[in-house]
Amino acid sequence: MNERTFVMLKPDAMQRGLAGEIFTRLEKKGLVLVAAKVVQTDDKLLGKHYAEHIGKPFYDGLCSFVKQAPVLATVWEGVEAVKVVRDLLGATNGRKAAAGTIRGDYSNSQQCNLVHASDSVDSAKREMANFFQPNEIVKAKIALADYIYSPEEQGKK
Ligand code: PPS
Repeated sequence: MNERTFVMLKPDAMQRGLAGEIFTRLEKKGLVLVAAKVVQTDDKLLGKHYAEHIGKPFYDGLCSFVKQAPVLATVWEGVEAVKVVRDLLGATNGRKAAAGTIRGDYSNSQQCNLVHASDSVDSAKREMANFFQPNEIVKAKIALADYIYSPEEQGKK
């Protein structure tokens, strides 16, 4: 049950005061926050975080955008958390994201798309390690687990 995903609220989410709304959507889905930190990023950190995009035409602009103001680095835990969060966010480009998703409702841009989320379990591990020490990520305690997941989904059977 304890899949983790890295979620970064980008400067547009923070400056527009959307952090609470985004947290609410993830929480209401049943995901649990297990780490959070406000971070002023720099070229070195972004070079690791966006390593697969180095050399792409949008890379420099993306880094300039992300380092212009603090981000909120977070880790969320839940069953299939990586896919669940990506689905909640919607398509990368806010103009193409379906209504009802976070980007579909609050973003109208490819760059200012509010949130980065890991695209695989392996990416999540790498991205978490870029932003957090292992002891900064707690183990989730879900008091209402029996009302969010079946015993099978909790790994009890
Ligand atoms: S790709 O090329 O398909 O891998 O890119 P994609 O997954 O769509 O996007 C990866 C991140 O790059 C950002 N991006 C851009 N920023 C600025 N301008 C342009 N044209 C652009 N295209 C992609 C996009 O917002 C993604 O950021 P994160 O933080 O990962 O959501």
